[in-house]
Amino acid sequence: MSANNEKIIILDFGSQTTQLIARRVREQKVYSEIHPYSLKLESLLAMKPTGIILSGGPASVYDDDAPISDHRIFDHDIPVLGICYGAQLMMQQLGGKVEKAEKREFGKSELTIGYTAGLFAGMETGSCKHQVWMSHGDRIEEVASGFSATATSNHSPNAALRHETKPFMAVQFHPEVVHSLIGTDVLRNFVFGICGCQPSWTMHSFIDNTVEEIRQKAGKDKVICALSGGVDSSVTAALVHKAIGNQLTCIYVNNGLMRTGESESVLRFFREKTDLQVIDVNATEFFLDELNTIVDPEEKRKRIGYGFIKIFEEEALKLGDVKFLAQGTLYPDVIESVEFRGKAPIKSHHNVGGLPERMKLDLIEPLRELFKDEVRDLGLELGLPEEAIFRQPFPGPGLGIRIMGEVTTERLDIVRQADVIVLEEMKKSGWYRKVWQSFAVLLPIQTVGVMGDSRTYENVIALRSVDSRDAMTADWSKLPYDLLESISNRIINEVRGVNRVVYDISSKPPSTIEWE
Ligand code: XMP
Repeated sequence: MSANNEKIIILDFGSQTTQLIARRVREQKVYSEIHPYSLKLESLLAMKPTGIILSGGPASVYDDDAPISDHRIFDHDIPVLGICYGAQLMMQQLGGKVEKAEKREFGKSELTIGYTAGLFAGMETGSCKHQVWMSHGDRIEEVASGFSATATSNHSPNAALRHETKPFMAVQFHPEVVHSLIGTDVLRNFVFGICGCQPSWTMHSFIDNTVEEIRQKAGKDKVICALSGGVDSSVTAALVHKAIGNQLTCIYVNNGLMRTGESESVLRFFREKTDLQVIDVNATEFFLDELNTIVDPEEKRKRIGYGFIKIFEEEALKLGDVKFLAQGTLYPDVIESVEFRGKAPIKSHHNVGGLPERMKLDLIEPLRELFKDEVRDLGLELGLPEEAIFRQPFPGPGLGIRIMGEVTTERLDIVRQADVIVLEEMKKSGWYRKVWQSFAVLLPIQTVGVMGDSRTYENVIALRSVDSRDAMTADWSKLPYDLLESISNRIINEVRGVNRVVYDISSKPPSTIEWE
């Protein structure tokens, strides 16, 4: 939350780009939160929103089961901006009419602005056409009383609307996507010009406020934190430590599924470069026993997750009298867990979800409001070194879910050696920080090859490298051929038992980033 308590509340009607609205607002240094469209009016008003944005969504406002927010939000003088579905809902709730459009508008469209104040302050009118991005099959046929059109597009005479006397406005296009070239200006005009916010939400003010909140919550009690060496848990630990010092103990569990040298370097870093108290537990044997003969991905994830809870619980009990668990839950995790109209999770993510209930621990989740890149900024502001901040994400279940089929010491060895090569080559070529993640996956099949005039029948390594902003969606990285070539050559020459390397060219969705 910002120092002056200003915030923009976004009501989510299920659009794929709702998160982007929050990001775009925060990029203006104004705090913003997403809530389900069904949020009760009392809860909404209790948050004292400086402005409200109604997101887009896939439904039609005239559908029987259309998601409808409380119409009484218009009884207050809080500025409201409706986007796409949100614009149509605003019209319908205030007495206008929305109907199926004869011509749907998807993708790029041209906007002609007729009114250059409010949302369009500072923009050109008349013959100048502005590129915006549309995605709608319905259109506003009759505007609600008190509203007038401020912009038109090829197929929408009411592409943008404003109320003559109240702070309500609507746009049919999506200002949050980069293809809407005036989008950022429109959102800036809304948050600064119309809502009157100040650009005061900075990492510095975030740290001050959060440190104070952690101190108040923890009091004099002990807090534990599961430290993996990844950016989320490292930043969480650093922030909680800044707040309560040695009331915090971190626990690092080596589950035997780490990359080569990972445990040593994580522990060395925290012990030499920080004042954190870190307990380390080597549970390699335990985890490999648990995974013995298991090939089902979900079963692997569950066993690793439960094993982790068991070890963590034993260590925490030894410390005694622990009241809180600090976790690096990020904003996309929070949003995913209140998924629009609750969809089943795709994969059970490894986390310490079972621990708080079993041990009756309260949670401290200081990163709940942040996106990954914001967490990185926060880490830098807290003084963590770049090598810790810009590490690629590594999943909790580790190499266990990058070995398709049975996890054995021999197969771990193969994937580890291949993984080292991938990382070395990515770093050497300068691509490591350009991509979201890059790694090797060991497949459960052998293929025929020829090495030194002899037939081989050996393993296949799949190389996966993706570009992403927050792991919710991802595309395969367009790595240069010579880099792919050197990775492939080195793996086949240096890793015994591998005679073929393939490159995964699938995006997310429909694939996921990890293979299991
Ligand atoms: P998927 O495979 O779901 O991955 O597209 C999205 C991102 O999450 C990471 N990932 C995990 N991280 N525990 C974690 O802490 C997990 O169980 C887990 N599974 C996937 C994955 O590496 C990617 O960055």
